[in-house]
Amino acid sequence: MEITGRIDEVRKQVKEWRRQGLTVGLVPTMGYLHEGHESLICRAVAENDKVVVSDFVNPIQFGVNEDLATYPRDIEADKRLCEHAGADLIFHPEAEEMYAPDFSTYVEMQKVSEGLCGKTRPTHFRGVCTVVCKLFHIVTPDRAYFGQKDAQQMAVIRRMVRDLDIDVEIVGCPIIREEDGLAKSSRNTYLNQEERKAALVLSKAIFHGEALVKKGERDADVILGAMKEIIEAEPLARIDYVEMVDADSIEPLTKAEGRVLAAVAVYIGTTRLIDNFIVEV
Ligand code: PAF
Repeated sequence: MEITGRIDEVRKQVKEWRRQGLTVGLVPTMGYLHEGHESLICRAVAENDKVVVSDFVNPIQFGVNEDLATYPRDIEADKRLCEHAGADLIFHPEAEEMYAPDFSTYVEMQKVSEGLCGKTRPTHFRGVCTVVCKLFHIVTPDRAYFGQKDAQQMAVIRRMVRDLDIDVEIVGCPIIREEDGLAKSSRNTYLNQEERKAALVLSKAIFHGEALVKKGERDADVILGAMKEIIEAEPLARIDYVEMVDADSIEPLTKAEGRVLAAVAVYIGTTRLIDNFIVEV
């Protein structure tokens, strides 16, 4: 496995793979890799001849008061995980390699990026779309792998790929959870012992909401009300949102119909965590 921070070296390598007629998968990440990322890399390895993992804490997707400076990083551990999972190349650029000092072109999306996380993080998806679009141009992958934990991100990326005619297949992969249910996230490392316990209200609410839909409940107010009740019972939890939307358009739903995404964002202490379920009704 190789690692490079240079765009021209990634391009050279991919060109050589293409010359050999090989397919290329891309797993975009911000590093501090865990089993959730590992599952994406393993899937990419199974479905492509060569796999590139990008490992880049993208500054432009963080708001001014967000955790860019403290976002966890451990490139040595990331290398071990990527090597073990069978990746071929890690792209680990410095911010200067990705963004020229006078960088001035952004991918801006309406609607799909405006609800849910877009409300409290208004510039987040502009940063995500811009960096992912750049990564698609640098790596030119056949397939790119994203986790369902960031369900809105997946909807946003799919819409960007459709709207801008980017020639890549987006592969969505299931949420990977700790044994007790907490969705794996690099941000879980911010939680102290007490907060780690309190964070279980997210998955409890998600499992309960999903069970209600599977039992036949269709009224969004009833489902979301029951989910909120679970979260509000935890003193360390503060709800950012608990919502039901169409999984593709991110338009709010009053009834669970179609491809339904129920998503929560909750502050546990100062750490903002997200979780969700998607059901076809
Ligand atoms: O999901 C993430 O880790 C990031 O948003 C992504 C897609 C790598 C873009 O920086």
